[in-house]
Amino acid sequence: MTVSKPGSYCHQPVLTQQVLAGFAAMPQPEHLLDCTIGGAGHSCLLLAAHPHGHLTGLDQDPGACQAAAMALAPFEGRWHINNCNFANYLPPPQRNFSGILADLGLSSPQLEQAERGFSIRHAGPVDMRMNPGGGETAGQLLQRLSEAELAALIRSYGEDRRARSIARRLVARRPFASTTDLAAAVAGAYPPRQRHGRIHPATRSFQALRMAVNRELEALATLLERGPEWLLPGGIFAVISFHSLEDRMVKRAFLNDHRLERLTRKPLTADPEEVAWNPRSRSAKLRLARRV
Ligand SMILES: C[S@@+](CC[C@H](N)C(=O)[O-])C[C@H]1O[C@@H](n2cnc3c(N)ncnc32)[C@H](O)[C@@H]1O
Repeated sequence: MTVSKPGSYCHQPVLTQQVLAGFAAMPQPEHLLDCTIGGAGHSCLLLAAHPHGHLTGLDQDPGACQAAAMALAPFEGRWHINNCNFANYLPPPQRNFSGILADLGLSSPQLEQAERGFSIRHAGPVDMRMNPGGGETAGQLLQRLSEAELAALIRSYGEDRRARSIARRLVARRPFASTTDLAAAVAGAYPPRQRHGRIHPATRSFQALRMAVNRELEALATLLERGPEWLLPGGIFAVISFHSLEDRMVKRAFLNDHRLERLTRKPLTADPEEVAWNPRSRSAKLRLARRV
């Protein structure tokens, strides 16, 4: 399903069949929490599949909340959106959810709109905040970190073996006027023959900076700790991750948390057909657990 509407918010939700199957049997009353509503692709499918269900959607990006509200218009009276970070969310008293979904990372519009500062190919400010209303930008982070701190960040979050030479170049060349300048500086740390592959050499460094700017692993840790408390007995907890560190955190939480029963020993992944028409799904991993 393509979510597309005026305002050009267009995001293909991943692993939709697996998500629908995961939430097929939920305790009553059916009230879902979509922690990362984005363009509401998953939310629309879930509301359509559960005609008596209700949904609360969260997103820290106000633009995503607006896009989600437009997409959800046909389901009038059955949803509510809260513009917040899921790590700061407090459900209303007495509210227990029958299912929680978190589809982590960025939406396609965030990635593609140059002014958001996530794009390697389109020049924009070095920003990378999912919530443009506050917090340190990637440009400010790049100014503040020492070379050793930057190398550690690119190595751990970006899993890039050239982290040290990339950090050395970035510290020598900062500040950066645009994302494309930053991407070119990272690419310069690679030998010329490795600069023009299918995947841009700055992809991993951009990912690392984005994860740090948005404190993504910290937010996920908070959600994994609090989420089970928000579920009804038998309620479903589903997390889609795109990074090995995130997947490891979800795997451990679903295995070790005494409040949860793991439903997927191995993560569910996209089949070749989905990868062919939605390349973003290539690295998506879905894990499911049930509140005991
Ligand atoms: C992959 S997109 C979700 C797409 C959505 N499932 C759909 O079908 O359209 C991830 C969304 O989560 C939001 N997001 C990421 N981390 C968040 C957090 N900690 N709190 C709230 N929203 C977050 C992003 O702003 C983005 O809109």
